[in-house]
Amino acid sequence: MDINNEIRRLTAQREAIILAHNYTIGEVQDIADFVGDSLELSRKAAECQAKVIVFCGVRFMAETAKVLSPKALVLHPNPHAGCPMADMAAADEVAKYRQAHPDTVMVAYVNTTAATKCHIDICCTSGNAEKVIESIPQDRKIMFLPDGNLGRNIAAKLKRDMEFWPGFCPTHFKILPEMITAARNMHPDAEVIIHPECMPATVALADVALSTGGMLRHVKASPKHSFIVATECGLIHRLQQENPDKEFFSLEPKPLCPNMKKISLEDIYLSLKELTPAVELPQEVIDGARHPIEKMLEVKP
Ligand code: 13P
Ligand code: SF4
Repeated sequence: MDINNEIRRLTAQREAIILAHNYTIGEVQDIADFVGDSLELSRKAAECQAKVIVFCGVRFMAETAKVLSPKALVLHPNPHAGCPMADMAAADEVAKYRQAHPDTVMVAYVNTTAATKCHIDICCTSGNAEKVIESIPQDRKIMFLPDGNLGRNIAAKLKRDMEFWPGFCPTHFKILPEMITAARNMHPDAEVIIHPECMPATVALADVALSTGGMLRHVKASPKHSFIVATECGLIHRLQQENPDKEFFSLEPKPLCPNMKKISLEDIYLSLKELTPAVELPQEVIDGARHPIEKMLEVKP
């Protein structure tokens, strides 16, 4: 059996679409109908007419697809692919904070569970966080959750006072300033592109901080030939495919998110064949989480 052919056959038979995040394994990116960053995947899920969405990424992303496309059957081929950062902002803790600070605007990175999104005002991704923060009047207090690093990087850029939840991405947290310095010493002509989930001290040593989708656009438009990629290593697959004449270097040790690597071609095949495991959310969670995601999608890019 050729698994790629079987997946394509079942995708057509089920009237399905396969969405994959830029960090998934190369084979998964290659079979997907659409590969993108968190914002692009949210937009795709919102406009998608497919009966079945096979979501290859971590759990909160599949939940977002379900919230935005509630009539579709959303399959998450490996239910063990979670995001530890999303789990750092539990719904009951966020609800408690909100109750205690009724005047604060709660801004949540999309890396939160649907249950947590029920207690916030507006979502953002690393691709639109600046625009989202700028859409909030200057005199309002802001709590940014769960990623303290993304929050601090945006606050510094916009010179905006904000409170930060004590959450972080365990993969980007391990990208240390000395790793950037070592990579620069090895490849002095390369431009350093970094993800804003990294610590501010690391971001300060890079040339440009962008979402994964932003990195792809930046590299394509750049006259430069070589790049040091300071984010999860899965992005290099697409960067290299779309820019065969350019050179990409990861860091040492290679940043890797084990959860993003959990979905295999076998998982996708079985999921399409058995139509399971499906993302199921209570109706009140779908309704509660939709509001802050839609508010985010209304913010002009
Ligand atoms: P983006 O693809 O939106 O940049 O997000 C990265 C990420 O870590 C998602 O979990
Ligand atoms: Fe979560 Fe970080 Fe993995 Fe993204 S890279 S899914 S933020 S743990």
